[in-house]
Amino acid sequence: MKYEIREEILSLNMYKAGKPISEVKRELGLEEVIKLASNENPLGCSPKAKEAIIKTLEEPQMYPDASNYELKHAIAAKLNVKPEEVFLGTGSDSLIRIICNTLLNPGDECIMGQVTFPRYEAGAKLMGAKAISIPMKNNALDIEKMVGAITDKTKIIWFCNPNNPTGTIFTKEEFEKILDKIPEHVIIIMDEAYIEYVTDKDFPDALNYFNKYPNMIVLRTFSKAYGLASLRCGYGIAHEELVGYFNRVIGPFDVNLFAQRAATAAVKDQEFLNKVYEENKAGKEYLYGEFEKLGLPYEKTNANFIMVDTKTDDKEVFDKLLKQGLIIRPGYLLGMPGWMRVTIGTMEQNKKFIEALKNSLQ
Ligand SMILES: Cc1ncc(COP(=O)(O)O)c(C=O)c1O
Repeated sequence: MKYEIREEILSLNMYKAGKPISEVKRELGLEEVIKLASNENPLGCSPKAKEAIIKTLEEPQMYPDASNYELKHAIAAKLNVKPEEVFLGTGSDSLIRIICNTLLNPGDECIMGQVTFPRYEAGAKLMGAKAISIPMKNNALDIEKMVGAITDKTKIIWFCNPNNPTGTIFTKEEFEKILDKIPEHVIIIMDEAYIEYVTDKDFPDALNYFNKYPNMIVLRTFSKAYGLASLRCGYGIAHEELVGYFNRVIGPFDVNLFAQRAATAAVKDQEFLNKVYEENKAGKEYLYGEFEKLGLPYEKTNANFIMVDTKTDDKEVFDKLLKQGLIIRPGYLLGMPGWMRVTIGTMEQNKKFIEALKNSLQ
């Protein structure tokens, strides 16, 4: 071959997503398959968002609004920030990449937890930067050690709170202890993809710190509690100056019109979010109880998924569950072999999962 691929790309692995339902149906000849693998919302999305999508079906020929005016203003109004501090992308996943594209030079360092969202590492590698992974403390981010690893070369520190895949959080008190130790040349990224599910009162909402730390970026998404994963829309809140740079890298029409309209409607539907929160909370209590009966250790979660110790080969448990039409994420793919991550479903799905799990562990 005559062409040359960048070194950085050659060292990248492709992201392994949760198995789609259609693939499992096709491969195993199953009629009913439940996917509890990608932390999607089992309740779907807000009926108001659905209505907005249907209305937008009349305009597929139109480019979306490149300035995302309505959506930016809706987010800014809800979060009490300036519209100029909001930036949008095709899922927060794309924003992780945009941030890395904008900030990182080869040789720069990015600090992250050893067991966290893998796209931070991919974003660093893509730019030829180094991903510095800090070992976990009791399956949670060791934020003190993370901050202790900062050097002159550190450009970004990634805090995923609640952390995916462990579901754990660090508290306000823990956060406030380390914040002033982070030098201004380091960008602090607070990935709060699961914030809408948080039940712990000691959770530090990053937006409460954002004004004091202009080097802080908050990332959130419409893919989880808002139930709009298929439309690919994520958002970030950052200092206006940083947003200006990100907007040079983000494609002008990255957020499609369906996503813009649906998300604008969804932001305003707090009633739907309340329902999602309550259903998830009830599902989590139910699953905790069942894992306890089965003698399986688990991590207390503040998200819409639970990390459970299968106390056996998680690959085998995954295969046995799959044969019964249940897709979960085996821990070996997430850096925690022996464990599995299960998304909290509807109560009916949770019950089916527990039945299938009992069969799988026999
Ligand atoms: C912690 C975290 N951040 C970001 C994302 C990206 O989500 P999306 O690109 O759908 O907004 C995910 C998705 O699983 C996630 O778990």
